[in-house]
Amino acid sequence: MMIKSKDAIFKMKTAGKLLAEIFEMVPSVIKPGVTTLMIDQWIAGQLKVNNLVSQSKGYMGYQHVSCISVNQVVVHGVPSSQVILKQGDLVKVDVCAAWKGYCADMARAYLVDVQEPTVEISKFIATAQQALQAGIDQAVEGNRLFDISYAIQQVAEKQGYGIVRDFAGHGIGKKMHEEPDVPNFGKKGTGMMLRAGMTFAIEPMITVGHYDVFVMKDEWTVQTTDQSLAMHVEDTILITENGPEVLTRLQG
Ligand code: MF3
Ligand code: CO
Repeated sequence: MMIKSKDAIFKMKTAGKLLAEIFEMVPSVIKPGVTTLMIDQWIAGQLKVNNLVSQSKGYMGYQHVSCISVNQVVVHGVPSSQVILKQGDLVKVDVCAAWKGYCADMARAYLVDVQEPTVEISKFIATAQQALQAGIDQAVEGNRLFDISYAIQQVAEKQGYGIVRDFAGHGIGKKMHEEPDVPNFGKKGTGMMLRAGMTFAIEPMITVGHYDVFVMKDEWTVQTTDQSLAMHVEDTILITENGPEVLTRLQG
């Protein structure tokens, strides 16, 4: 059943709030010289003190509590002692964790040690964030699922960016990935009817160049085929009678 109980919603809200609090501190560990494995280990410690259980560790053999995707890596970057952050890197940090058995999934992007980003990179980052917000704004009762998808696609393509087709957002609850998929492209007015009590992870993935991506030999890391820069941000949301509620942000 896609409509969550009061109990499930309470637990997902708690997971989301705790996860958002951890993300508030992530910028303090993103700096030149730090490896993505060190960031993952720091996140693991934070999850532990907050009674959050990683949903990625152990998932299909994945060994880490986060995905950390740098520059042309779109999603599912595997934390590694070999990946050392340097000034100017665009780093996407993605964590899915459960509190008392219910999940929240969240991703944010960071520029390493950049005081004044170029107009180009600022626009790229802002567009992904705006696409996410446009998608969230469509998560209202009575709308159709692909109204979310369409809104995301419109924002990204209007700025000339690629929308990744091969990965999507998803339903979320007891499990990290539940039905339905929430694609980042689609036809408005189509797809299932949205109802209060449904919860989704919405996660636009956009590229500076072509939207085509490939999975690397490690069977996880997803890169743009043309090696162009990629962005990914994600929030977990609840549809209420009064519109969308973002569970992975602090105060509203
Ligand atoms: N958090 C990712 C998502 O948004 C997936 C988890 S990473 C994985 O769906 F390695 F576990 F797949
Ligand atoms: Co997700």
